[in-house]
Amino acid sequence: MTANNTLHGKYAIITGGGRGIGRTTALAMAKAGANLVIIDLDGDKAQETKALISEIGTSVHTITADVSDQNAVENAFKNALDFFDGNLDILVANAGVPHHCAFLEIPLNEWERIIKNNLTSTFLCGQKAAQIMTNRKYGRIIMLGSISGQRGSFGRAAYGTSKAGIMQLTRVMAVELASYNITVNAIAPGPIDTGITKFGPSQEKEYLARIPSKKFGKAEDVALAAIFLADERSGFITGSVINVDGGFNAAGLMFSYNELKSFKSDSRDNNKSD
Ligand SMILES: NC(=O)c1ccc[n+]([C@@H]2O[C@H](COP(=O)([O-])OP(=O)(O)OC[C@H]3O[C@@H](n4cnc5c(N)ncnc54)[C@H](O)[C@@H]3O)[C@@H](O)[C@H]2O)c1
Repeated sequence: MTANNTLHGKYAIITGGGRGIGRTTALAMAKAGANLVIIDLDGDKAQETKALISEIGTSVHTITADVSDQNAVENAFKNALDFFDGNLDILVANAGVPHHCAFLEIPLNEWERIIKNNLTSTFLCGQKAAQIMTNRKYGRIIMLGSISGQRGSFGRAAYGTSKAGIMQLTRVMAVELASYNITVNAIAPGPIDTGITKFGPSQEKEYLARIPSKKFGKAEDVALAAIFLADERSGFITGSVINVDGGFNAAGLMFSYNELKSFKSDSRDNNKSD
């Protein structure tokens, strides 16, 4: 096994693999030798990912399905297992939708749509994958959380709660599935430039002022974490959340050192020698 072939012969399902982080992760896993099933609402986009993977040379199959619908998930996993001859080693539960709305204004149907699309879909796919993996006594499950599920950001009541739920589900699944040699971990991206979400210049400036690395992440940064967690050798890592965020969460509310020095009115700072 070479460093570039760490998933050789493995069977992986990636939800939301039609574009963005999901597509980049699917390509990275194919390059690492995995066979792929891409499940996405958008069948045309999934086909585009398939064409890119076919050039790499591992086997790939696409399924058009809404992973927040229980029957659709049942059928999609049955279809995937037929393609994989009953094998499944890796699930990347990546499908999700963004959302911003002030807490005071969120209509119930909006709240329910985000919870269902992000959290319930992850539960459904995670449970289905785990039922297959427990029989095989092996599995790597990777869920997509978010820094928005760790911080109380404005406008993120529904989205942030769905992502916090995913990260808590990760911990409970990790505990319950550990004895089956199944690991369950989450990746929490900060702002990732997938080429789809575009910030205006002033919005970009404000964002970058709050990210210690002074740049947006790339889908490849997230894919690298997924490859690491999917590796057979990562078997002692379970129940963890890996932040891929350029230090965004570590920094919290960030003042530069010069700003801190300029807060002269705070007598405690003026009297301190440290
Ligand atoms: N991009 C970021 O900055 C960022 C930050 C934190 C977390 N995330 C999370 O990472 C994941 C991927 O983000 P992205 O930016 O690549 O998103 P994206 O919108 O570019 O791609 C999401 C893909 O998921 C598919 N999808 C959505 N809901 C689905 C459903 N119910 N059934 C099947 N397919 C569905 C879409 O069709 C699309 O192809 C999401 O869970 C997102 O919340 C992204």
